[in-house]
Amino acid sequence: MINADTRYNLRKVIPVFREDLDFIVEKFYAHIRQFPEISQIFTGKAQIDALKKRQKQHWIKLFSCRFDDAYVNSAVRIGKIHFTQGVAPSLYVAGYNYFHCELVSALTRRKFNPRELSDVLTSVCRVISLDMDLSLSVYTQEYRDNQESGDRQEAGDRQEPEQNPAWVIE
Ligand code: HEM
Repeated sequence: MINADTRYNLRKVIPVFREDLDFIVEKFYAHIRQFPEISQIFTGKAQIDALKKRQKQHWIKLFSCRFDDAYVNSAVRIGKIHFTQGVAPSLYVAGYNYFHCELVSALTRRKFNPRELSDVLTSVCRVISLDMDLSLSVYTQEYRDNQESGDRQEAGDRQEPEQNPAWVIE
């Protein structure tokens, strides 16, 4: 549950982010570009540079805990971009996991007492799960829409239904 306590705990994350986020984002792109199957998704350095900025804005927005329509629309739009770009859900989740682990590591290096640290880490886990849930719901929805339009075509003009993405296990 995301409540007043979660918001209170997450206020402690923003200053850590301000110090460490640049480094975490740089490391993230350096890490994922080592994998040829991921590297080929990107068009080049200019795109990655622009993405680094957008990544930072996204995380700061998330930890500011304003869960309004603008936030939900943005999370869903970002999910849609990843779906359209062919980022497999397992890869997307692995990306979230990378950020989550880096953040846990940055926070545990700070001077929180054990109780405080536990509260902060639990709150971080909650909002990251929420964000991931919203983004990934797009994948389920798009997959369902594709299925339905395929079914309609089969029942109608019998054109070839749209192919499932490569990551869908039939
Ligand atoms: C390995 C996993 C990932 C890959 C391969 C990937 C790839 C991409 C690609 C190709 C784009 C579109 C770039 C463009 O339109 O020029 C994009 C946009 C973006 N990605 Fe990822 N991504 C990954 C994980 C993540 C994760 C975990 C997040 C965190 C939420 C994230 C946040 C964003 C944001 C904020 C944008 C910009 C959306 C906008 O246009 O406003 N990505 N990503």
